[in-house]
Amino acid sequence: MESAIDRILFSDAEIRARLDELGALITEDLRGKPLTAVVILQGGMILMADLLRRIQLPLKMDSLVVQSYHGGTESSGVLTFGNGMPDVRGRYVLLLDDILDTGRTLVGVREKLLTEGGAAGVSSCVLLSKRKERAKEIEPDYVGFEMDDEFVVGYGLDYEGRFRNLPFIGVLDPSKVDKEEGE
Ligand code: IMP
Ligand code: MG
Repeated sequence: MESAIDRILFSDAEIRARLDELGALITEDLRGKPLTAVVILQGGMILMADLLRRIQLPLKMDSLVVQSYHGGTESSGVLTFGNGMPDVRGRYVLLLDDILDTGRTLVGVREKLLTEGGAAGVSSCVLLSKRKERAKEIEPDYVGFEMDDEFVVGYGLDYEGRFRNLPFIGVLDPSKVDKEEGE
């Protein structure tokens, strides 16, 4: 295991089992809607790939690039939107993100899809939700796991662009990250 990972919070097998449940739930709930799954990049990429293959419905896929961390382990509070707006007018969006922290990203993106994008509705799904007071309140429709307020990496989540490809979710100790490695 990477030496900067203090401990594994959710294993590969636990994540896969939970995604089986979420996929089945979403399939039941969103049946019959003109569905577009929109993933928030980069962090939601792996969730997107694994979850969508468990949803037994016709759907379209799109993405949005949003940054709230500009390096480090604290959200900056300012959302930066990258690659324009997906075409979701009149469609029902399943919005996917890796983790719910302050709530700014999910609230900001949801708002933008409904107002600017003209989506007919938005359901949101996050793999992880931190138990904490949020800057913006939002209850996602689907949550993989609740967790304490710790900084985690893996399964799409990064620290300064690294660790996204770990197959599990682990707690990171930033002081143990070798600065040279993987640059
Ligand atoms: P929010 O806008 O504060 O809710 O933050 C959501 C975004 O912050 C997520 O999409 C992640 O990219 C990032 N983030 C929040 N917590 C963590 C963490 O523990 N590890 C890595 N990235 C995180
Ligand atoms: Mg992210």
